[in-house]
Amino acid sequence: MPSQRSSALTAIQAHPDSTAAPLLPSQREAIAVIDFGSQYSQLIARRVRELGVYCELLPHDVDEARVRALDPRGFILSGGPASVYQEGAPQLPPAVLALGRPVLGICYGMQLLAHALGGRVAPSQRREYGHAVVRVCTPDYPLFRHLPPELPVWMSHGDVIERLPAGFRALAESEHSPVAAMASDQGLIGLQFHPEVVHTPAGKELLRNFLFEVCGCRGDWTSGSYVEQAAADIRARVGDGRVICALSGGVDSAVVAALVYRAVGDQLTCIFVDNGLLRQGEAEQVIRAFRQHQHIPLMHVDARARFLNRLAGVVDPEEKRRIVGDEFIRVFNEEAQKLGTIDFLAQGTLYPDVIESTSHETRAAARIKTHHNVGGLPADLPFQLVEPLRYLFKDEVRRVGEALGLPEELVWRHPFPGPGLAVRILGEVTDERLALVRAADAIVMDEVRRAGLYRQVWQSFAVLTPVRTVGVQGDFRTYGHVVAVRIVTAEDAMTADWARVPHEVLAAISSRIVNQVPGVNRVVYDITSKPPATIEWE
Ligand code: XMP
Repeated sequence: MPSQRSSALTAIQAHPDSTAAPLLPSQREAIAVIDFGSQYSQLIARRVRELGVYCELLPHDVDEARVRALDPRGFILSGGPASVYQEGAPQLPPAVLALGRPVLGICYGMQLLAHALGGRVAPSQRREYGHAVVRVCTPDYPLFRHLPPELPVWMSHGDVIERLPAGFRALAESEHSPVAAMASDQGLIGLQFHPEVVHTPAGKELLRNFLFEVCGCRGDWTSGSYVEQAAADIRARVGDGRVICALSGGVDSAVVAALVYRAVGDQLTCIFVDNGLLRQGEAEQVIRAFRQHQHIPLMHVDARARFLNRLAGVVDPEEKRRIVGDEFIRVFNEEAQKLGTIDFLAQGTLYPDVIESTSHETRAAARIKTHHNVGGLPADLPFQLVEPLRYLFKDEVRRVGEALGLPEELVWRHPFPGPGLAVRILGEVTDERLALVRAADAIVMDEVRRAGLYRQVWQSFAVLTPVRTVGVQGDFRTYGHVVAVRIVTAEDAMTADWARVPHEVLAAISSRIVNQVPGVNRVVYDITSKPPATIEWE
């Protein structure tokens, strides 16, 4: 899953010899989540982390040595699209049973356990998809502790367990699944439904019970403990080398910079390229936060004119992306050279990107937009990479940012695309159009904040459309721009829904934009989910 990134620098390909050794949070309790291709696999990992237990999402054909190195307290087996009895269906990695730790199989994971241990899995007479109610037959079983005997759950399966493996018993049933949950005395547990999704209200409690009651975890995964561990890892890796980091204004690069600074102090220099495509007040805010508050050495490069010149006359979205990425790398390289010898480049690769690059499932093969590979640096880049966020999800990055004392406005800032406002102006990017969309965007943000919605929504912004419409203002006909307002909710950016914002908030946004942004006479609200639309308009 290509996750959103905060800077074009994430496009940089490491020199083949310079692949960063993982900054692994060593010596902590861990859970291994084995990925069988479910759309919810990452969600399982996030839920476990939310419960304060470190976990890694591993492909189903993972090496046994890798699993042993992680030394997990337990395993969670994800769901998946295959049927266990099909030829070529993903099988249980041998390490899962060899380690003798508790296992929680979810959906396909449960069927796989049953299949591998001699039970029978067969196609169901009726596919069970959506809401269901399970009746718990063994309320004393640790997994169901503190839970009522009837649980609304989310099902999504076409196979059922017809015969349990020897030594297993059914723990729960539903209308169409006689075995909605099962367990052996050895702590091998299966759930036919999905505890990781919000549609299973008791799901978090079930996962908590598995982690703490069954696996005996303590829950030592906190942002504070991560900061200390990561800083020690960075120090060990960087030694007395010099590090550069590109700041974009987004949360990922900000947290990387603050973390690396915590680890190696002035050995770090940050480069902030103002490409002129940022939101209102963003450049000043970055400079204030880093130079004045954190005292982090920062080079501020005003490259606004360069970017604008290169974007002149360009209307194609992919071309805009390519130009912004390419120009960024040129500017960045020029500035880096002024610094003399630099050994390391710190960048904000997040865990979803790591998962994506190591996943054996070829998901999302079709390129929708060029998110990262804009431009690209030469392959013989002379830096080694430091990627201290490579085991974190976005919400964890934010918590680490808070633990590092970064300002709330930076840590909780909505994601922003690398090509910035260039992809929120449909058509040509000019100074005038930038000013217009920036002003409208600031109003959207302001009203969303005022309504107390800023942290509840994933993104909120304005788009300048290439459309002009007729209006009337003060008895005069106008022929003005149309601004689209996009406010979306999402758990991650893979899917999103348009936010059901109260009408009064939309009214305030609309009224302020047409009154305060010259040239705009119409405001529309985007009511499309992703898919089929994307979050950004370009
Ligand atoms: P879409 O528009 O594909 O966006 O639904 C998903 C998320 O990614 C962000 N986005 C980008 N981030 N460079 C980035 O660093 C890009 O070119 C880019 N395009 C989209 C978008 O804001 C949303 O959060």
